[in-house]
Amino acid sequence: MSAKPKVIITRKIPAACEAEAQQRFDAVINRDDVPLSTEQLKEALRDADGLLPTVTDKVTVDVLATSPLRARIIANFGVGFNNIDIEAARRLGLTVTNTPDVLTDDTADIAMTLLLMIGRRAGEGERHVRNREWTGWRPTHMLGAKVSGKTLGLIGFGRIAKAVARRAHHGFGMRIIFSDPFPPKPEEAKALGAEQRGTAEEVLREADFISLHCPATPETRHLINAERLKLMRKDAFLINTARGDVVDEAALIAALKSKTIAGAGLDVFEKEPAVGPELLSMENVVLLPHLGSATLETRVAMGMRAIENLTLFFNGQPVRDRVV
Ligand code: 8YV
Repeated sequence: MSAKPKVIITRKIPAACEAEAQQRFDAVINRDDVPLSTEQLKEALRDADGLLPTVTDKVTVDVLATSPLRARIIANFGVGFNNIDIEAARRLGLTVTNTPDVLTDDTADIAMTLLLMIGRRAGEGERHVRNREWTGWRPTHMLGAKVSGKTLGLIGFGRIAKAVARRAHHGFGMRIIFSDPFPPKPEEAKALGAEQRGTAEEVLREADFISLHCPATPETRHLINAERLKLMRKDAFLINTARGDVVDEAALIAALKSKTIAGAGLDVFEKEPAVGPELLSMENVVLLPHLGSATLETRVAMGMRAIENLTLFFNGQPVRDRVV
């Protein structure tokens, strides 16, 4: 029998991480790279000392109720952990970890990508060229919204929002406003040219671009609903790189159709990989397949961070990124 702890890795991860995991643990990797079923997740928790899941694995109260539960740690591959029922894990005395910091820059880059693409009509323009519809330059062709110097509103002001503020303020001369129930030190906000507003509603009313950076929790579910979308300016854009649940997708579609808002750049969706079919034919949206952290460097760093958490746990040391 192997003396190494058994770890089940629910998806294919970068080769360097797979090799590292295999060296440190008795690692079982789902090489098919198809999400595990509820039954397979339960079996994994009965069969291994640790689980390394991702956003596509719904580790619900039902999954965690499997018995006898052998796993003692769930080391999530990702900073967001709304795929795991944290309260149920806490009750069972499980340790749950995530992978913060390492994906901050990449996710901020994708938020800026969406902001620039939707403002400057880049997705639409690209389709235009590919469809051979472009007849030539003209002064009034495909005029978008200027980005430089505009006001960016950040809902949530954690690590990723601050990285977006840094890019937008120092790179694009944007004015930054934000709301967050846990605001930063005034000096920190000042260094990023960011001004606090008391509520999300105030940010929604004022900004040209709104970017969402709050975690998905029961409190933030459908934070952006029909009522709040109405507060946005008609010429404003919504950017979501956080989680689909934060936006009521049906209300967003209605707002886009009725032109209550100018457009949206979305990297995450309420029922991903399903995307509201009406979004697919709209020109005033940019749609990406949850690419926030999708660079080789960052996915390796995320895998290594999850492996580090598992290693510390099995060595009886405090884990680096404890969620519970
Ligand atoms: C991850 C993310 O790649 O880390 C997160 O929370 O949203 C993504 O960038 C994904 O969740 C993988 O688990």
